[in-house]
Amino acid sequence: MNKKSLFFAAIFLGLISCCNDNQTQITIKGKINCVCNQGYYGPVGQQCQQCPQGSTSGSPDQHSNQSIGFCSTCQKNYFMSKANYIPVGRFLQSESPAICNPCPSGSGNSSGSDSLGDQTQCNTCQPNYFMTAVVSQTQAAQCSPCPHNSGNQGINNAGDQSQCNQCQDNTYMTALAQQGQSAQCSPCPPNSYSSAPNSLGFCTCFDPFAIPLSSTQNSCICQSGYAGNVATTKGQNGCYQCANNQFVSGNKCVSCADGSTVNKDLTGCTCNDTSDGTIAWNSNTNICQCKPNYYGSPDKASQGSSGSCKLCPQGLISKAGSKTADQCQKPPPDSQYQFSLIISNSILISFIFIIFY
Ligand SMILES: *[C@@H]1O[C@H](CO)[C@@H](O)[C@H](O)[C@H]1NC(C)=O
Ligand SMILES: *[C@@H]1O[C@H](CO)[C@@H](O)[C@H](O)[C@H]1NC(C)=O
Ligand SMILES: *[C@@H]1O[C@H](CO)[C@@H](O)[C@H](O)[C@H]1NC(C)=O
Ligand SMILES: *[C@@H]1O[C@H](CO)[C@@H](O)[C@H](O)[C@H]1NC(C)=O
Repeated sequence: MNKKSLFFAAIFLGLISCCNDNQTQITIKGKINCVCNQGYYGPVGQQCQQCPQGSTSGSPDQHSNQSIGFCSTCQKNYFMSKANYIPVGRFLQSESPAICNPCPSGSGNSSGSDSLGDQTQCNTCQPNYFMTAVVSQTQAAQCSPCPHNSGNQGINNAGDQSQCNQCQDNTYMTALAQQGQSAQCSPCPPNSYSSAPNSLGFCTCFDPFAIPLSSTQNSCICQSGYAGNVATTKGQNGCYQCANNQFVSGNKCVSCADGSTVNKDLTGCTCNDTSDGTIAWNSNTNICQCKPNYYGSPDKASQGSSGSCKLCPQGLISKAGSKTADQCQKPPPDSQYQFSLIISNSILISFIFIIFY
């Protein structure tokens, strides 16, 4: 069979199955029936309803006429305060469900009660509680919440806080549990998850290209050389590598200026010609050009070359970034005048100084 016919076969099978979400198809005496799933009840051929609070029904079986009386046991962490008995043979069906009450303050019953009783059916502690006293003749097990975000998978025997020897979801362990003391757990930083809840360690960032979390790194950020923003859910990609000869500025990729080459760490560039006269590359300008009083085209220089910027002839000056010899010019007379004014002033001040002393 090819893919296409498999596809149509699947549709065909879907069409002949009458069962909806909360039902399972079962063949009873050669006849196909849709029977309610565990936790649901309802007569055959009708929609299935959820069993009322805390009660539950058995897994789908040969009995297609499932009245509410099929909700005859309790879910886990409930005790049964009123039973409903389905008489032998299950032909006569009870019209009421079992009445189930939640186990008190963190206590539980991990199998789910199937018989009439009281809170003494609650003889365990639910996950993330520790047990201070076992179940008694009259009382459920005594359970207290685990402190400092610590937790466990549920407890069957009396003990102390050290029964809380794991970390709850989205926290990481900073100290192990020890006698009388629970584990110490801290919340994972944003955009990370707890990857090892049972041992000392750190959370893991969702983003595979984030800097790993550690005692000195307590937030998820992209590794150096990666642009973008860290992934905010598992499986998503946030940080990415830039294209050839680009550097990372902020969280964006920027092409290195003409005549420059990206550095190994991808956080900046270096002008191809670093000889005298070239202004060293910096991220604010991202340009390769000549210093004042030089002229030339370091933006056209190949890597390792030198002398792209030539000094202006003596007595002539140029602005930064000048490219041609004719940009070297005589200093404006104005500035010469100011210069002489400064000189004459300082001579005058020196004179006054000498006269005074
Ligand atoms: C299945 O059960 C859920 C409640 O558990 C209910 O919301 C939903 O409507 C039911 N689906 C059908 C098809 O009866
Ligand atoms: C199915 O169960 C209901 C409720 O107990 C009952 O009234 C009805 O007669 C039963 N139907 C069949 C076909 O057994
Ligand atoms: C749960 O309740 C039943 C009674 O239905 C009891 O026998 C059992 O010991 C209880 N505890 C556990 C952990 O199953
Ligand atoms: C600068 O050097 C890089 C790396 O060798 C080269 O790719 C680029 O073309 C050079 N720039 C110029 C203008 O030659």
